[in-house]
Amino acid sequence: MTRTVFLTTKTTDLVHLTVADAPAILPWLNNHDITRFLNRGDRPLALAEEEKFLGSLYTERDKLVLGIWHKEAEKLIGMTGLHSINPINQTAVFGITIGDTDFHNQGIGQAVLSAMCSHAFNWLNLRNVVLHVLGNNPRAITCYTRVGFIEVGNYPTFVFKDGEWVDEIHMLLRRENFLLSLEEEAKRQTVHQVATMTT
Ligand SMILES: CC(C)(COP(=O)(O)OP(=O)(O)OC[C@H]1O[C@@H](n2cnc3c(N)ncnc32)[C@H](O)[C@@H]1OP(=O)(O)O)[C@@H](O)C(=O)NCCC(=O)NCCS
Repeated sequence: MTRTVFLTTKTTDLVHLTVADAPAILPWLNNHDITRFLNRGDRPLALAEEEKFLGSLYTERDKLVLGIWHKEAEKLIGMTGLHSINPINQTAVFGITIGDTDFHNQGIGQAVLSAMCSHAFNWLNLRNVVLHVLGNNPRAITCYTRVGFIEVGNYPTFVFKDGEWVDEIHMLLRRENFLLSLEEEAKRQTVHQVATMTT
């Protein structure tokens, strides 16, 4: 299978996703250990629904969704995206899921976030990237803070998840607050010419 690489980090390539990736993605999005941190998990995700989503990618300019391909393991381990890209307000909403839990806590989230923010600020010319994270997800909050996101709001006990009400925290990264060292790092590692690799 030929993969199109759009961005790259030290350990991962951020690749185009296709309908053929749906069977790999489905178990992540039906795993409560993952969905307890996401805005899903209340009902099963069907293969056809995921295929429909993947089939619509790269046809519209309001979102950029990419697969996270682990270079050494040679497999897809997650997905990430800039959603609701708004060229007037110059904003987007960031999302990330490393679905393969074997690859958590290895700095991959921070590297991917850094590469996506670098693209958001330097290529899409956005001013602000925002995200929403549940208050019971300290790993994600640490990851986002490391890249320069700050908390700008909190809807207390707002989301019902696994029998509990949890806070929804709103975080913001302004272009000027994107940590320079990470940006420089991301720039070095970011490939903006479309390259291909064979898997
Ligand atoms: C959230 C997620 C993207 C983070 O990616 P990751 O590669 O696991 O995270 P990183 O290793 O880059 O960074 C995590 C940081 O949190 C720290 N951390 C881990 N567990 C923590 C905890 N319980 N409390 C506080 N910090 C924690 C790590 O030590 C690391 O900080 P460091 O760089 O100082 O060591 C990933 O774990 C994931 O996809 N989780 C499941 C889905 C999810 O939560 N998505 C986000 C929804 S908003």
